[in-house]
Amino acid sequence: MTVGIGLLVAAYIIGSFPSGLIIGKLFFGKDPRQYGSHNTGATNSYRVFGKAGGSAVLLADLCKGMIGVYLGQMAGQAAGTFPEVYGMILGGLLAIVGHSCSVFLRFKGGKGVATGLGVILFLAPLPTIVVFGIWAIIVAATRLVSLGSIIGAVATPILMYVFGSPYPVIIFGILAAILVIVRHKENIVRLWQGKELEVKRLPKE
Ligand code: G3P
Repeated sequence: MTVGIGLLVAAYIIGSFPSGLIIGKLFFGKDPRQYGSHNTGATNSYRVFGKAGGSAVLLADLCKGMIGVYLGQMAGQAAGTFPEVYGMILGGLLAIVGHSCSVFLRFKGGKGVATGLGVILFLAPLPTIVVFGIWAIIVAATRLVSLGSIIGAVATPILMYVFGSPYPVIIFGILAAILVIVRHKENIVRLWQGKELEVKRLPKE
């Protein structure tokens, strides 16, 4: 039991790892929170650091989600008292919560999209491919990543249901979608006002 709890705490701590901040400071000498949307995620990292920085943050945040699910799976095996899928869901959820309320950033953080994508890739691969396709079409058409992320979040539990994911996974999809949408509240206001930032490189200083 203690091992299982330790692994779940590790999933939260891995999720908390502030990839955007660390990559920004180490390789570009900048804090992404001071520019663009002030977010530490891959979208704003692309705005501030360009393709290489944005891709590195995207990859790191995706991995945090996948590692969270894996640690949760091991926690489920260690506890041995509940089905493995519950451990995976809990680990994934804790990684997303860690990313959004990071212990290293005074419980602030990102919006959970890339980390969430890493989690659902593990839990529901086929729905994830379709969600990614929807997201990519919206972003290509509008240049508004937040719009793609919000619609992708809403589509996630619906597609999980359509593709026949187990009910605990669908419930996870609903919870993750709520978390992602709540984290986008400032984006929703900007979208409503027609003032949302596009995804494009900011002029270098
Ligand atoms: O993944 C975050 C994205 O949906 C919005 O990012 O920087 O435009 O607030 P940003």
